[in-house]
Amino acid sequence: MEQIYKAPPECQTKFTFGSGRDFLRAKVSDLSFRYNPEDRRVLNKVSLPVFDKKITALIGPSGCGKTTLLRCFNRMHDLYNATSYEGDIVLYPEGKNILSSEIDPMEVRMRIGMVFQKPNPFPKTIYENVAYGLKVRGIKKKSFIDEKIEKSLVQAGLWSEVKDRLQAQATALSGGQQQRLCIARALATDPQILLLDEPTSALDPISTAHIEELIVEIKDDVTIVIVTHNLHQAARCADYTSFMYMGDLIEYGPSEQIFTKPQDKRTENYITGRFG
Ligand SMILES: Nc1ncnc2c1ncn2[C@@H]1O[C@H](COP(=O)(O)OP(=O)(O)O)[C@@H](O)[C@H]1O
Ligand SMILES: [Mg+2]
Repeated sequence: MEQIYKAPPECQTKFTFGSGRDFLRAKVSDLSFRYNPEDRRVLNKVSLPVFDKKITALIGPSGCGKTTLLRCFNRMHDLYNATSYEGDIVLYPEGKNILSSEIDPMEVRMRIGMVFQKPNPFPKTIYENVAYGLKVRGIKKKSFIDEKIEKSLVQAGLWSEVKDRLQAQATALSGGQQQRLCIARALATDPQILLLDEPTSALDPISTAHIEELIVEIKDDVTIVIVTHNLHQAARCADYTSFMYMGDLIEYGPSEQIFTKPQDKRTENYITGRFG
């Protein structure tokens, strides 16, 4: 189950910034999206790379399309009939467009994990929450599942707090612990990309700091795309940041560049707190 990631030569970045050695995990090209055929486009020809084992942050004022973009990565919008996509999200190293009508959205959701704003553990035990995705995938071997549960809970910084009560109800955990459990649940199935939608916005500052630390730690193992309205969080955690405004991707680059030398006036206005 362990994924060994070998990027083929065509996945190597053509971007000249960053380390210059980052590999593409996904590439979004000219992605447009509508919730309803008669409505305006909520995303307008958005393009950005997502680099392997890096953290990419999506920032921008409320309503600019961050959640909408994030949910394209696991075809969540397909749960509603009227939605429509144009453009591509190509996943590497396979080189497959996950927005293609030939691709089963269920399969995409199996490969791309997601954690939401509010912790949403299942009303089951801690153990069953983390085991869930493995069981759905037909994995039955208990020793494998047990090992995976421990590893995921360690990664999510929760193991020492719950190892003696794996059979307790997940809902008995604190909010911060529940969110770390949701991260463990997503990690257990080795997602190719982990999507985080404002994962700390419902949490207190201590739980937030804890989750930020673990996000930075787990990027050694998984590629992360995170939506945040907390600019300090993006600056602290993310390797790359994209600034969105009214459905357009205004600027993308290494976080340091976006936060210290933005090229576009709108990015500058946003990061200096003039709007949003
Ligand atoms: N289910 C929906 N149906 C119709 N419009 C939606 C829906 N969800 C979001 N929108 C609209 O899409 C735009 C982008 O929303 P969203 O992606 O949630 O922004 P953000 O996450 O940046 O705050 C907003 O104008 C919002 O009102
Ligand atoms: Mg949102």
